[in-house]
Amino acid sequence: MTTRIYSADIVLLSLQKSNPPNLVIDAEGYASTPLWTNPTLVPHHYLIPPEDGVQGFDFVATPPPVGTIVLQRLTKTRANTVMPAIDITNFWGPGQALKGIRCYAQTNTKQALFDVPVGMPEVANIPAAPTAEDLSFAADVRPLFRDVDINMMIAVRNLDLGSFDVVSEHADLILSRLLDGTMPCDGPWPASDIDTFARWIALGKTP
Ligand code: HEM
Repeated sequence: MTTRIYSADIVLLSLQKSNPPNLVIDAEGYASTPLWTNPTLVPHHYLIPPEDGVQGFDFVATPPPVGTIVLQRLTKTRANTVMPAIDITNFWGPGQALKGIRCYAQTNTKQALFDVPVGMPEVANIPAAPTAEDLSFAADVRPLFRDVDINMMIAVRNLDLGSFDVVSEHADLILSRLLDGTMPCDGPWPASDIDTFARWIALGKTP
C-alpha cells in the first residue's frame, strides 16, 4: 500500500533531446518519518483534459510496516519518472499544450510550469517557480501561536511557545503533536500551518 508523502518541495522538469522529446520529472519532498520506501510519481488519468493543461502526479511511497517504531522526523525523499516521446504542443489534443507538472503530497502540491514557449528544440532545465523558503520564527512561526496557546502551554508544561529558544529546542515534540492532531487542544491546525512549521524546522530553524 502506498500513500502520499507528507510534502512535495521541488519539482524539476527537463526535456531530453530526442524527437519527440522525453520529459523527465524529478521531485523531492519529505516523508513524515524515516523508513518510507519506493517513492514514486503516479500520474493522474483524465477523462477530460484539465483546464489548466497541467498534468498531475501523486507523490507516493510505502510507509514503514505497521508496528515499526519510528521517530516523527521529516525525511527527504526523491522520485523521478519519464514521460517518453511526448508532443508537448498537442499533448491534450490538437493545439492543447502541456503547461506543466504538478505533484500532489499529503499537505501541499508543488508544480513546475513551462515558462518558455513549448516545442523548443533545446534541452531545458526548468526549475519550479521560486518559493518563499526563508521562513523565520519571528515572521512565520510565532504568529501561528495564539495567546491562549502560549498561556496554556506555559501553565500546563512550562513550554513557552512564544520563545524562539524553547520552540527550537522542543521543535520535534511540538511537530509530533501538531501532526497527530492532539495539539492545540481545541482542534488541529490547518495542514498549511503544520507545513510551515515543518519547513521552518527542515530549513534550519531561523530566528
Ligand atoms: C499550537 C498550540 C499548541 C502546541 C504546539 C502545543 C504543544 C504541546 C506539546 C508539545 C505537549 C506535550 C508536552 C510534553 O510532553 O511535555 C502539550 C501538552 C499539553 N497541552 Fe498543548 N499545545 C498547544 C496548545 C494547547 C492548548 C490551546 C491547550 C488547551 C487546553 C493545551 C493543553 C495541553 C495539555 C493539557 C497538555 C498535557 C497533556 C498532554 O500531553 O496531552 N495545549 N502541548
